[in-house]
Amino acid sequence: MTDLNQLELDLINAIGAADSVTGLEDIRVAALGKSGSISGLLKGLGAMSPDERREQGPLINGLRDRVGAALSAKKAGLEAAELDARLLAERIDLTLPARPRRKGGVHPTMQAMDEIIAIFAEMGFAVAEGPDIEDDFHNFTALNFPPKHPARELHDTFFLKADPETGERKVLRTHTSPVQVRTMMSEKPPIRIIAPGRTFRKDSDATHTPMFHQVEGLVIDRAIHMGHLKWTLETFVARYFELSGVHARFRPHHFPFTEPSAEMDIRCDRSGGSLKLNEGDDWMEILGCGMVHPNVLRNCGLDPDEWQGFAFGMGVDRLAMLKYGITDLRPMFEADTRWLAHYGFSPFVAPNAASGLS
Ligand code: PHE
Repeated sequence: MTDLNQLELDLINAIGAADSVTGLEDIRVAALGKSGSISGLLKGLGAMSPDERREQGPLINGLRDRVGAALSAKKAGLEAAELDARLLAERIDLTLPARPRRKGGVHPTMQAMDEIIAIFAEMGFAVAEGPDIEDDFHNFTALNFPPKHPARELHDTFFLKADPETGERKVLRTHTSPVQVRTMMSEKPPIRIIAPGRTFRKDSDATHTPMFHQVEGLVIDRAIHMGHLKWTLETFVARYFELSGVHARFRPHHFPFTEPSAEMDIRCDRSGGSLKLNEGDDWMEILGCGMVHPNVLRNCGLDPDEWQGFAFGMGVDRLAMLKYGITDLRPMFEADTRWLAHYGFSPFVAPNAASGLS
């Protein structure tokens, strides 16, 4: 047997035994690649005498053609087999039961938050934010809480450990009102912002959780008065509860940072076990509000003779409960996916003014 026959036999055997496309490619490179065995033979033709070349040429070229053809045929076979194996492995069993459409959902508090933001955004309010961990100045002092006044304790404040160097005790913000201060100190009026966020108070019972959510509002401009406040809040409440109008009353109240201060109530009927808004002789408290106190304006570097404004703050969790018929506050923060599957909202339909709020 000549060397050429032996080489062909070896190559054809190896090709036959190859069991993967990559293995086959190695064989091809070893035979027909740049420094492959057959390529070497072909290169050798140039150094031969014309007679020798006439004899060897067809033999070597024939060898190259047959090996090439065997490689292609084997490659096609292997590729088909690999495709079959993949199709089998990646097969989807359409008879399996479908997975539930969604496991979780948007939490009702966040849904209410998005709705509130969408309503105020339409009225030209921008969203402002502040930190959950506040200093005494922003949470209390600048907001006209007198120093050492029991009001600071009334808020059931969570105090952090005192800084060993300065003695300063930071707090978990007890309301979103510090964002009023941050905004007035960093922006020039006119100001029209809402500040959604987490708030904290040492309080835990059926209607209070230590962490809850508020949305703050602040408008600062020239010649702002209670009429603007009333219109803004009545319009907001009507849109939020999807009513054409609201029967509201503004009941005098006290907050250190507003003067006058009020709580806004809406008329409701609680008889018969369900809550109906705008009917009956009952009142339901919705939010706190008032005209920004001149001391607060001064503390933030604004001249109260030039600038006035109003502010309001509302509890988002409670507004979500009222709108969506949730009766117990505590499970809202227990992270039970069954609760969320029941009360949650689809993440694919974010509230907006064009397509609706809820
Ligand atoms: N910060 C007040 C609270 O948490 C609410 C409020 C905000 C009242 C702004 C008046 C103006 O109870």
